[in-house]
Amino acid sequence: MIERLSADYLIIGSGIAGLRAAAELVSHGRVLILTKSDPAAGSTGYAQGGIAAAVGEDDSPELHATDTLVAGDGLCDEAAVEVLVTEGPRYVRELIDWGAAFDRDESGALDLAREGAHSVRRVLHAHDATGREIARVLAARLQGHPALTIVDHATAVQAVVEQGAVRGVRFIDRRGALVEARARATLLATGGAGQVFAETTNPTVATGDGVAFAYLAGARVADLEFVQFHPTVLAVPGEPRYLLSEALRGEGARLVNDAGEPFVARYDSRGDLASRDRVSQAIVLEMRRTGRPVYLTLQHLAPDYVHRRFPAIAELCARVGLDLARDRLPVGPAAHYLMGGVVTDLEGRTSLPGLFAAGEVACTGVHGANRLASNSLLEGLVFGGRAGRAMTACEVSDWPVERTPAIEDPPPTGPACRLPIDEVSIRRLMWDQAGVFRTSEGLDAAARVLEGALDELAAERARGAGLSPGTWRTTSLLVVGRLIVRAAARRLESRGAHRRTDYPERDDLHWKRRCFDERSRDER
Ligand code: FAD
Ligand code: SIN
Repeated sequence: MIERLSADYLIIGSGIAGLRAAAELVSHGRVLILTKSDPAAGSTGYAQGGIAAAVGEDDSPELHATDTLVAGDGLCDEAAVEVLVTEGPRYVRELIDWGAAFDRDESGALDLAREGAHSVRRVLHAHDATGREIARVLAARLQGHPALTIVDHATAVQAVVEQGAVRGVRFIDRRGALVEARARATLLATGGAGQVFAETTNPTVATGDGVAFAYLAGARVADLEFVQFHPTVLAVPGEPRYLLSEALRGEGARLVNDAGEPFVARYDSRGDLASRDRVSQAIVLEMRRTGRPVYLTLQHLAPDYVHRRFPAIAELCARVGLDLARDRLPVGPAAHYLMGGVVTDLEGRTSLPGLFAAGEVACTGVHGANRLASNSLLEGLVFGGRAGRAMTACEVSDWPVERTPAIEDPPPTGPACRLPIDEVSIRRLMWDQAGVFRTSEGLDAAARVLEGALDELAAERARGAGLSPGTWRTTSLLVVGRLIVRAAARRLESRGAHRRTDYPERDDLHWKRRCFDERSRDER
């Protein structure tokens, strides 16, 4: 007998998207947030550079839209971009009204930062720990609200499906027990999937669960070949991969090779502030050319200023014995952000009745083939708010009939299954074969390994094996890894963050279109 909980609205995940949706929903009914680890464990709290919004005097939503569309390399959904850039300033001002302390200059005006591929300064920031400040404000807004319950260390593993609609989720609680949570509407706000790759900026909770969960339930997913690799991640052997924000380059930091020469302009005329995909590729190519590391350097900037402006990053560098202002910092690319995800409309509705998605797990198409820096926090805020509003109007019986019927799998109640592959091997394989540069041979080899492991898992599950948080983690990495590899193998061109060495050109004639995937009924 499975234990049951119920609420009016269910939210999976407690990052910016989940919390902003909750802020909308608490005045409409009982809200239950399930979150897999500590509530602050997602990417939101790690965000450094800031949140982009057209609030500067030299800026406009039209200019912000243009930069977003250029970065998206021809694949952005223009209606989603329009929503993001026009509603963004209002959502950001609301955050300020709620107490967000973004940095200001001596005159009291917002101190806007510059980041790669932005044509003007438009990034609001709280020093170099912007995500933490936004999460603090949202959590304070919800703190103690009588309509809200948060259950932490609760891992959602499966949709509850009835009559073709999603009625809630099954999750594993901190005791290891399987519990069913039911609601009128369920929001996936589970963040990204950086942990699918060996090199990543993402926290350990970012295993793509929402994408795997929704795909296994029959929801449509899209654009999964587009994984953003951030170019400047501190790469000290044996140490964690700390992000060195693009805002550092916005303030004058330079990329140099081992001989101390600037090199990015040789690969892209925009130089160090080119879009992330181009800078990541330039770094890999330069390391291959010289056989030596590349570095980020701030040695030409005033050390006091550097430490005052970037205290959190200086602290991360100090942890590995480096001085942000005085040392050359070895850097390399790492998986940072998933442009693809669970397909939604502009109100967060997925293809499954009763299931919504917002934030990094969702795919409105707003980022196209490559996300503009600092557009992700904005996305979580705007589309989290919109999804929350749409959930209040969710009557599953009104859902258009042509929507995909959900797939009901048997509840994972048996003892946890044996794992066919270890996590380190999956992550290494994905980094080597589906990382910054891809080829058909590499992607096919990866597909064979992932398919084999998924077949073994499916056989175990067919014998009645259940899931623990650990087996679910591996299942999620495998399902999402296979979706990324499948999508990357299908797209025979290079565009945005998807770079094929065997198809190096962008091919608008055949590929100026988004690609969708959906689980068939007989698939595991
Ligand atoms: P998250 O904040 O990742 O939250 C996901 C939540 O879902 C977590 O609470 C997690 O525990 C929970 N969860 C996951 N799976 C399950 C499950 N199965 N069951 C229950 N709960 C689950 N973007 C910017 O715009 N500007 C920046 O400056 C910036 N800097 C960044 C720096 C770093 C180091 C990183 C990693 C990302 C950065 N990003 C930045 C990207 C941005 O932070 C994220 O895209 C954004 O915060 C995602 O918000 P979210 O609400 O969708 O997910
Ligand atoms: C960074 O600070 O470089 C990350 C910003 C982002 O991911 O948008």
